[in-house]
Amino acid sequence: MTHDNKREGFSSSFGVLVATLGSAVGLGNIWKFPALTGANGGASFLAVYLLATLAVGLPVMIAEIALGRSARANAVSTFERLASGGGGFWQIIGWMSFASALLIMAFYSEVAGWVYAYVFKAASGALASTSPEVASRTFGALVTDPVQSLIWQWVVLAICGTIIAMGVTRGIEAVTRKLMPLLFILLIVLCIRSLTLPGAIDGLVFLFKPDFSLITPDVVLVALGLAFFKLSIGMGCMLTYGSYFRADQNIPSTALRVMLADLSVSLLAGIAIFPAVFAFGFEPAAGPSLVFMTIPAVFTSMPGGTLFMTLFFVLTAVASVGAILSLLEVPMAIFSERLGVSRRQTAVALVLSIALVGAPAALSNSSMAAFKPFGMTVFDLYDFVTSNLLLPLGGILICLFVAWNWGLPRLLAQISNDGALPNAIIARAVFRLVQWVAPVLIAIVLLHGLKVF
Ligand code: PFF
Repeated sequence: MTHDNKREGFSSSFGVLVATLGSAVGLGNIWKFPALTGANGGASFLAVYLLATLAVGLPVMIAEIALGRSARANAVSTFERLASGGGGFWQIIGWMSFASALLIMAFYSEVAGWVYAYVFKAASGALASTSPEVASRTFGALVTDPVQSLIWQWVVLAICGTIIAMGVTRGIEAVTRKLMPLLFILLIVLCIRSLTLPGAIDGLVFLFKPDFSLITPDVVLVALGLAFFKLSIGMGCMLTYGSYFRADQNIPSTALRVMLADLSVSLLAGIAIFPAVFAFGFEPAAGPSLVFMTIPAVFTSMPGGTLFMTLFFVLTAVASVGAILSLLEVPMAIFSERLGVSRRQTAVALVLSIALVGAPAALSNSSMAAFKPFGMTVFDLYDFVTSNLLLPLGGILICLFVAWNWGLPRLLAQISNDGALPNAIIARAVFRLVQWVAPVLIAIVLLHGLKVF
């Protein structure tokens, strides 16, 4: 194992778990998962998503963390250090990661901005309604206002840029470990309220009773893309976090726990949202606006609604910060380690770049609504290109690198902490999955989704 003792890292085993979970849990669970599940048929989509997470997501996540911890370096230098025969070609994974991180932040920071705005709207009582029309008008007023859209995005970027400049331990770890548990508790409260609404059962049927005829190649591609997005894989993020893992951290068990906890948060969000969708007459396929309309309705229908609603949006804002910090850490590590630029300077440069690339996404419901390259708004384009192209492609390349360049013995050593853990069976299973199953599955889904065949 190559060690660089001066390099910062997560301070405790619990800190590693929480920070990694902080990367996985975010708007993906509360905003993207319900929106995609609603728009792609409900339970059948959930079934495909689960399969993608288990067969592809988990092994890729374990492999990525192992690579990062072995090299103790950023997403570009890792391949330089680990590749036999020179890392020239494989470094492309690092640069693709850099592009993915920037593009994801460009739209993710906008959704986070909506959440921040909703904190204030919730506190002022402006969201206290169970009517779909009122909810849609309130959300529409926010996203079609170019000034508000830009300013909220900048607020998010400024906050996250400040935290990331403070460093891995003090910044990332300190913030995420405090607030995760609270979000979980509040989601459970929401689920209880949602499940006791009249007509709640229709929402549960939608979420858990699959109709397999709804599964198309497009649906499979979206589910696979979500699995990557959810677990922050295919773009060097888990690799970068892996480089901060402690030497005695059990990688497969950490990855499994993160995956299960992340899945629980998504399911809780689904259970909080879909019964309410049917009880109040919302449209399950409403897409990105779904959460912003249904969640306020559920809170409005319970005592103390304003307080809990405000708290919910605060915690969702915090969850989005954990995810954005991990996205920022990918280019941060690349630039600060490769060019020797300070974290503070890199943070400023990154925040400015994301504000620039993100502006067309922020304005895609207002000033730039008519600008539709490839038939999509810029917001949707960034989302599509990252989740459905770059992350799966990054995933394939990482699998190929581990299987055909790095090799089984090194993966075994890394996963077993140099023989300290008796988990060779797991390491071998992960190796087979990343050698054949994951790349072949991703390739088929990717090519089919892109209508290549
Ligand atoms: N996993 C995060 C979420 O689901 O909200 C989003 C994300 C974070 C994606 C980090 C990619 C990433 F590298």
